[in-house]
Amino acid sequence: MEILETVKSGRKTVREWHRQGHSVALIPTMGALHEGHLSLVRLGLERCDRTIATIFVNPTQFGAGEDLSRYPRDLPGDLQRLQEVGADAVFVPSEAEIYPSGFSTFVGEPEVSHLLEGQHREGHFRGVTTVVLKLFQILPANVAVFGQKDFQQAKVIQAMVDDLNVDVQIVLGGIVREPDGLAMSSRNRYLDDHQRRSALRLSQALEQASQCIASGETSVAQIESRMMEALLSSTGDGAPVDQVDYATLRNADTLLPIERYCENSTVALIAARVGATRLIDNRLL
Ligand code: PAJ
Repeated sequence: MEILETVKSGRKTVREWHRQGHSVALIPTMGALHEGHLSLVRLGLERCDRTIATIFVNPTQFGAGEDLSRYPRDLPGDLQRLQEVGADAVFVPSEAEIYPSGFSTFVGEPEVSHLLEGQHREGHFRGVTTVVLKLFQILPANVAVFGQKDFQQAKVIQAMVDDLNVDVQIVLGGIVREPDGLAMSSRNRYLDDHQRRSALRLSQALEQASQCIASGETSVAQIESRMMEALLSSTGDGAPVDQVDYATLRNADTLLPIERYCENSTVALIAARVGATRLIDNRLL
């Protein structure tokens, strides 16, 4: 596996692959890799002749007071996992390589970015779209794989790609979960045993929403209140979550609010805090 640290070497490698007639898949990550990330790399390997992952903890997508300085980092472990899964290369730039002094141009998608996460993490998606567009420019790929775990992020990136005519196909990989249902996340490393049990409330609340719908309920207000109950009630296994930023059913294309469940076009999304850790999860209903 090639380890590429500079824009120049990353670009050269990907250009050479294209010159040889190979198709290229790109998998952007912030590292601390788990099975969720690796499932995206496997999707890339299935779809394309060459697969390149990136590891860059992108400072511009973290707000003041967020976890940038303590975000988990494990480069040796990450490189080993990527090598084992069969990635052809990994791009691991320094911060100065991506944001040299004098850097001043940002790209923002104001519509989808404004909803949900945008209400709680100001400027977050502006940082995401900026770094992802830079990665698309540095490592021009045929396919870029993102996870459904960050459903809104994938929507924002798709909107950017459409709006700016970026020549890349966005592929969405399903959410990989722990055996008990907890969606895998680099941030799960922050949780102690007690918090880990509270964190399960997110996937349980999504299951509640699903069961509500199976029993014939279509009122979004009703379903949302069942989700809130699952997140916040003190009965059940483990303590409730500490704060719910949102627990909502939305149109799966636009992420706009809806009043009634609609088959195949509804998504349930949750963001909640357990201690100092902010967790997100979602489910297509
Ligand atoms: P990160 O949180 O490291 O996630 C990298 C990719 O892995 C994202 O597309 C995310 O949706 C996906 N992913 C995370 N957990 C997953 C799971 N349990 N199952 C499947 N896929 C999962 O998302 C980012 O980094 C950054 O915002 C980035 C796009 C790299 C830009 O900096």
